[in-house]
Amino acid sequence: MLRDHHWIKQAIHKIMAEEEHHQETPLIKLSVPGLQTIDIYLKDESQHPTGSLKHRLARSLFLYALTNGLIGPDTPIIESSSGSTAVSEAYFAQMLGLPFYAVMPRTTARKKVELIEQYGGQAHFVEHSGDIYPVARQLAEKLNGHYMDQFTYAERASDWRGTDNIAHAIFEQMKHERYPVPRWLIMSAGTGGTSATLGRHIHYRQYPTQLCVADCENSVFYDAFCHNDFLLTHQQSSRIEGIGRPRVEPSFIPGVIDTMIMIPDAASVAAIYWLEQKTGRKAGPSTGTNLYATLKLARQMQENGESGALVTVWCDDGERYLDCYYNPDWVDKHIGSVEPYLAQLDSFDLTGNFSDDLQSNMTVLSELPTGEVIS
Ligand SMILES: Cc1ncc(COP(=O)(O)O)c(C=O)c1O
Repeated sequence: MLRDHHWIKQAIHKIMAEEEHHQETPLIKLSVPGLQTIDIYLKDESQHPTGSLKHRLARSLFLYALTNGLIGPDTPIIESSSGSTAVSEAYFAQMLGLPFYAVMPRTTARKKVELIEQYGGQAHFVEHSGDIYPVARQLAEKLNGHYMDQFTYAERASDWRGTDNIAHAIFEQMKHERYPVPRWLIMSAGTGGTSATLGRHIHYRQYPTQLCVADCENSVFYDAFCHNDFLLTHQQSSRIEGIGRPRVEPSFIPGVIDTMIMIPDAASVAAIYWLEQKTGRKAGPSTGTNLYATLKLARQMQENGESGALVTVWCDDGERYLDCYYNPDWVDKHIGSVEPYLAQLDSFDLTGNFSDDLQSNMTVLSELPTGEVIS
């Protein structure tokens, strides 16, 4: 294959210039009166130009493909996605003048599909989330295009040693806080790429910080981690858009994770309503999963008499989900009642404690098979 080196150079230049134009995303400190010696922060990735943490990944995947000579001036780009990555990739594909095709579950939030189309991309729908991989591969073959395959390449396309990554940004931004080195970083998993970056960076820079990965219902990550079975699959699709997978994705790196927590979907949704009460802004449901897991760890720290900081990720903007997670009828039908969790979070706000009745439904960390984490 003859490579167009001039075009590749220009394309890389455009992507690097785009990064220069945007500032680092903010770190938000959450006020929780019930927690006096524990501070909670959210790294607000919804502030990227394409509205989610996937802006970083899309940039990295394009740079990976360009520097490896995998795409040229006429290469159609194909991706399997639950939506957010496709929105960001459509943006970069348009910047480079490349056709873009996103293979997504039919249930993907309508707003994300609109955004992909706004950036000139095309949506191809499948009925089951597990079908996105083969359909994307077939489409790439048919169009003689390049399948980005975020689920495989997220972990290796993202930098974790240097300074161009979310983990480095978090530790830099925490430097002047009262607990400058976080006790925990908390993240959910879709590809697993962000947790891989966070965990590798922690190990590489030798921070005492630990990494907790939160999973949702209808996902295999939690069970796979607990039972050391990475061939597990699941028939049903996750109801928390962006996270929870029917198979253990190649970018999910268990060796970097200290512990995992399973969060009920209704708790994730309640947590984004609670976050809106506190900040006046809406977040996507994976942020709720992250936040609820963070509060559970905070409660555990409080019970153990520990102090310190916990940092989690505000993954995307909730305005994308007005017709689903912010629509009471949709939530009633697809998720169920979130009221008990909302009441629990309100009481947590004031006391730093979860009410007993719901606490018993939740996984207590010390009971996890990994069991090594909380001292
Ligand atoms: C909204 C949202 N949150 C969280 C994630 C999970 O991030 P990662 O793929 O790095 O595991 C994704 C991934 O697509 C996402 O779209």
